[in-house]
Amino acid sequence: MSSKIRRIGVLTGGGDCPGLNAVIRAVTKTALNRYELEVMGIEDGFLGLIQNRMRKLEWSDVSNILTLGGTILGTSNPSNPRSYAIKRKGKTEMADVTDRVVEHVQAAGLDALICIGGDGTMTGAADLLKHGINCVGVPKTIDNDLEGCERTFGFDTAVNTAAECLDKIHSTAMSHHRVMVVEVMGRNAGWLALHAGVASGSDIILIPEIPYDFDKVCEVLKSRSRQDKRFTIVCVSEGASQKGGDKVVAQRIETSPDPIRLGGIANKLAVEINACTGLDTRATALGHIQRGGSPTPFDRALATLYGFHAVELLMTGAVGQLVVWSSGKIGEVPIEQVANKQRLVPLDSPLMAAARGVGTSFGD
Ligand code: F6P
Repeated sequence: MSSKIRRIGVLTGGGDCPGLNAVIRAVTKTALNRYELEVMGIEDGFLGLIQNRMRKLEWSDVSNILTLGGTILGTSNPSNPRSYAIKRKGKTEMADVTDRVVEHVQAAGLDALICIGGDGTMTGAADLLKHGINCVGVPKTIDNDLEGCERTFGFDTAVNTAAECLDKIHSTAMSHHRVMVVEVMGRNAGWLALHAGVASGSDIILIPEIPYDFDKVCEVLKSRSRQDKRFTIVCVSEGASQKGGDKVVAQRIETSPDPIRLGGIANKLAVEINACTGLDTRATALGHIQRGGSPTPFDRALATLYGFHAVELLMTGAVGQLVVWSSGKIGEVPIEQVANKQRLVPLDSPLMAAARGVGTSFGD
């Protein structure tokens, strides 16, 4: 056991997702109960470290939060200490404020940080490691796209939410004999679209890993129509694109480490499908609803396992590691190995093969 660790900080960075509070609870309760550590909750992710905003977490602060969506600590997206937006003479400039973060960590007497986040947060943690700050990572994201980790917490809840919405879309699609194009999140990875699409029996699933052939998509729709299948559900990932085409960008946030926000493919596709097939078509984008709400029991259990394991790693001196689920086991991989990387759906995915087996089209 590491005798050097007395006080730890915990932060939630990047986009929120269901299960963050369950991890904060597991980290805090394990630290207090098993090791009598002090726990400081850092507010709004790395922004709280930059601005020196943190508060002590007691048992009572983390009681009754297991089932709560969001994060009691708050989070922030555009706040990478290496590239932080500062206003000077009315102009926004990006500055490296890592030294300020190191000062605040040392002044607060934090012996280690538990960073709960996705690839952006792990990139920040990897930088802090180089500056001598002990960090352990916990893999969060509804996108399930963290390198080295087969299951991030938050993903199961997002799949449930998206599948439930797709089920609801089914009944209205049937009544009106329509093509319904439903856009789900996932950034550049198709995990969410694949799992929610298969779980809801979507007829066409379009994911970023397989640029779609628009003529093939229309062929499937027309052929279904000829067979008297009077409605079709298309589940499209926000990162999907036509062969030779570009992804549809909703917004650019220049101060964010990853400035591109995807979105809008469902609308674009619905207009094109209607023009090509003449079929009555509507678009729905599920958006941030996929990030909200109470975590599923699976995510609560996974978050608890991750939070507990993160403290165990710290106390055994295994800093610089990201807790992961891999090959059916809890384990860890070096944070550096994960930073700035995304795990995509492999083209030989067994779930994709099964979907094809039951007649689902991937637009290829
Ligand atoms: O990474 C999680 C995620 O929800 C992506 O699926 C999506 O592309 C992005 O975050 C949206 O980010 P924001 O909350 O900044 O709109």
